[in-house]
Amino acid sequence: MTEKSNWEEFFDAHAQAYEDNVFTKNTIREVDFLLEELSLQPNSSILDVGCGTGRHSIELAKRGYIVTGLDLSSEMLSRAEDAAKSAGVNVNWIRSDATQFSLPEKYDGAVCLCEGAFGLLGRRDDAISQPLSILCNISRSLKPQAKIVLTVLNATAMIRRHTNKDVAEGSFDPLTIIESSECPPREGLTPVAVRERAFVATELILLFRLAGMSVLNIWGGTAGNWGRRGLDLDEMEIMIVACKTAEPSAAGYTAA
Ligand SMILES: C[S@@+](CC[C@H](N)C(=O)[O-])C[C@H]1O[C@@H](n2cnc3c(N)ncnc32)[C@H](O)[C@@H]1O
Repeated sequence: MTEKSNWEEFFDAHAQAYEDNVFTKNTIREVDFLLEELSLQPNSSILDVGCGTGRHSIELAKRGYIVTGLDLSSEMLSRAEDAAKSAGVNVNWIRSDATQFSLPEKYDGAVCLCEGAFGLLGRRDDAISQPLSILCNISRSLKPQAKIVLTVLNATAMIRRHTNKDVAEGSFDPLTIIESSECPPREGLTPVAVRERAFVATELILLFRLAGMSVLNIWGGTAGNWGRRGLDLDEMEIMIVACKTAEPSAAGYTAA
């Protein structure tokens, strides 16, 4: 049997508590926002990467879209499936690592929200290959000109939280902008060692470009507080709105 990745282990154990997080409480307004940005025709198809318990996927399906939700954690997906059944909607759930999926040219739009895989690094993941392979896979799955909305951790906020002591102790790496911590998935459970990567806007523009997508807007994307506002240094998350303009050109990219 293959070893579970650290994030799979974390989210499998966290699944039952996930929707207690305050940042999950704005789904309806977030979906309104997504639909304004994605410019979709009725009945369009949408891919939700790192869909978690399916809160955006299910709300999008309720509004008549054809939705695929992809996630690494079987426990998160099992909750998503139950919630979709209770809501009376169909969503195509796929269990996969976002660095490895292949769903060519199917989708009219994509979302990857609240660090849905992007920047949640496995034990051996590389700081550049992990996000780039996810973007290349998403890009390949989009029709030409289709849009994506993605939210990721903001490097400036992460850097401002850390000190040289953290660097010396290994809990923050200024070269890769990776924070390493031991995080209990729920109260009373054994902590799981996890790595989270934050990004600066210019490298995101470059990564999107390598994946064949042009960045249209960069806004404040902090979970629970999305807005069409400029970034400031303390914004927890960055929102990228981008559009597929070419095939991924990242040299040597073999993922999916
Ligand atoms: C913070 S949750 C976000 C869930 C959802 N997008 C939302 O906004 O509520 C992150 C999700 O990403 C998933 N995830 C983490 N690493 C992944 C990977 N490599 N491939 C696919 N999903 C992954 C986790 O299982 C988890 O469900």
